[in-house]
Order: sequence, then structure tokens, then C-alpha cells
Amino acid sequence: MLNKKALYLLSVVSLAFIIYVVYYNFVYDPQAAGFLSHKTNLKRPLQIPVWLNVMYFHVIFACLAMGSGIINFSSSLFERSRKFHRINGYVYFVSVFLVSLTSGYMAPYATGGKLTSIPFNLLNMIWPGMTVIALYHIKKRDIIRHRNWMFRSYAFCFTNLFIHLISLLCHHAFGLAYKTSYILGVYGSITLLLILPSLVLARKKRLFI
Ligand code: HEM
Repeated sequence: MLNKKALYLLSVVSLAFIIYVVYYNFVYDPQAAGFLSHKTNLKRPLQIPVWLNVMYFHVIFACLAMGSGIINFSSSLFERSRKFHRINGYVYFVSVFLVSLTSGYMAPYATGGKLTSIPFNLLNMIWPGMTVIALYHIKKRDIIRHRNWMFRSYAFCFTNLFIHLISLLCHHAFGLAYKTSYILGVYGSITLLLILPSLVLARKKRLFI
């Protein structure tokens, strides 16, 4: 379980991002007009109503994964009810699979073409794979490995946040074209989210209690 300071920090970031994502995609720009305006020269024709519905589904389960994931890092909730931890863990597990499934539909239409659809599809296997490994370890009663793999898996809930932060930086601060910035955002985000959790686990031994 995460220590109080880390749990507080991650909860604030996760909650703020959930509120932002829900507001942006369901209230501010529900037709995703801004995002879709960058999809030019697509190899396959995009069925916008289908894409939008898949994207809403994706966002709902992404938020559910973020929320249920962070809750399960709380030691006080775990001590109060292990049953809740287990049920909530399965909510996270199913959400990860549904986010990846919907991502599988959207990946071929990704901004940046093959250059981004390939890493997205790789992530569609890596993320559920890591979550299955975490589940496997707890079935073997190995709490430390379960916790570490859940930490690595949970990091990918920040994929969209990292993609947008990196691409915003490249586009606005360095003046790169939107498409190039987005491609760099996808590669940067996946690389960082693969490396950072393992670095944190190796260096910050007191992160967990
Ligand atoms: C868990 C947190 C996540 C949230 C909140 C989230 C949210 C979103 C949103 C709002 C979009 C629409 C476009 C945009 O504004 O970026 C989107 C697109 C997409 N997401 Fe996610 N996502 C998350 C995680 C993931 C993960 C882990 C993957 C891959 C396994 C993924 C794959 C995709 C793909 C392929 C697209 C379409 C990109 C494009 O058309 O260029 N997402 N996501």
C-alpha cells in the first residue's frame, strides 16, 4: 500500500484528471471536434458516430480504472474490508480490458497513422498483460509482487495525460507540427510510463507501508 503522502498526491492528480476528462469530453467538446480536426489523410474512412461512442465508452472505463486503481492503494480501506479491495480490484481489472478493447478499435484511426497505431496496439497487450501478472501474484499470495505489478499497471492510467502534456509542450513550446507533437507524445508517454514506475520502485523503498 502507498504511504499517506504518495497516496494523497496521486489521488489529487487522478481526481483532477478524471474531472477534466469528463468535463472536456462530455460537456466542452462532446463531438471531439478539436481532436478529430487533426485527422487528415486517414487510410480508412472514419465512421464518426461509431468512433465517438467507442471513445465515450473508452473514457468512462478509463476513469473507472483510474478511480478504482487509486482506491486500492489505500491501506486503511484494505484493512477495513479485504472483500471491498477484492471486488474493487476486479472492477479495475475489467476496466483495463475494456479500455484496451476500445483502444483496439480506435488505434487504426490514430492521429499519426501507423507510427502511432503500432505503439497503441502494443500497449493494448502490455497493459492487460501487466494487470494479469499482478493478479497471478496475488493468487500465489505474493503481496509484494502483486503490489509492484499493480503499481506498474496503474501508471498506464496516465497515458492520456502524458500524451497531451508532451504533445502540448512540443507543439506550443517548441513549435512542432501538431501531428509530430502527437507522435512524440505517444512514444514519450509509453516509454516514460514503462520506465518510471520501476525506477520509483527501485529507489523509493519507503513509498509503500
Ligand atoms: C486510463 C486513462 C485514459 C484516459 C483518461 C483516456 C482518454 C482518452 C480520450 C479522451 C481520448 C480521445 C482523444 C483525446 O482527447 O486524447 C482517447 C483516445 C485514445 N486512447 Fe485513451 N485514455 C486512457 C488510456 C488509454 C490507454 C492505456 C490506451 C492504450 C492501451 C489508450 C488508447 C487510446 C487510443 C488508441 C485513442 C485514439 C487516439 C487517436 O485517435 O489518435 N488510451 N483516450
